[in-house]
Amino acid sequence: MAGRFITFEGGEGAGKTTQMRRLAEFLGERGIEVVTTREPGGTPRAEAVREALLAGKLQSLGPEAEALAFAAARVDHIDKLIRPSLKSGKWVLCDRFIDSTRAYQGAADGVDMELIGFLERVAVGHTKPNLTLILDVPVEIGLKRAAERRAGEPSKGKGRGKGKAKAKAPPEADRFEATDAELHERRRKAFLDIARQEPLRCVVVQADRSEDDIARDIREVVEQRLLASVG
Ligand code: TYD
Repeated sequence: MAGRFITFEGGEGAGKTTQMRRLAEFLGERGIEVVTTREPGGTPRAEAVREALLAGKLQSLGPEAEALAFAAARVDHIDKLIRPSLKSGKWVLCDRFIDSTRAYQGAADGVDMELIGFLERVAVGHTKPNLTLILDVPVEIGLKRAAERRAGEPSKGKGRGKGKAKAKAPPEADRFEATDAELHERRRKAFLDIARQEPLRCVVVQADRSEDDIARDIREVVEQRLLASVG
């Protein structure tokens, strides 16, 4: 039986990474084989594109070019990791996916939604998430959490957990964090709009609460929507 595909979405500092890890542990305890991954990234080629994007190296080419780069990274990620994992029955948990492109490049940066829809059809095809958890936090709380996280994190843009702490100064906000509050608001609204438009795929999780409360809600959603059907 094919696995299940769950994506985590939301603005900066929503706690997606922590919650994804907790859900992976929960599923693992139930004997489910889980692959955790992230976008942009997840394969060596896509991680190389990630580095360029987050360092802002493609910014001067404009948001359309950035959208194309996110899609290019996604093609490799889906072909090499996501589809084969799902086919072999594993559950794939992914930190950000198509909705980030819709919210960041589309709603916030103004890339034509027709182009984004076209890129989705080409890159993603039928490999749509079975469930998308949209972690929603007020922008000022998310930005504060992201700044705190940066202060305690040695490097960004390289493989997670592999980065060596060279500099003592906290890393600066990356290309997509370093934008004004109004853009963050537009992204937040876009995620909430997507959830309203696609209620069968998306669930909004109120994420300005304790880590445990959020994790419990996510487990309940996954139990109701996905585990019930696999027995
Ligand atoms: P990351 O450190 O993974 O951000 P976070 O911890 O907030 O999830 O960096 C990924 C950045 O790339 C993030 O700011 C969102 C942005 N992004 C897009 O703009 N478009 C996309 O399609 C994706 C997948 C990410």
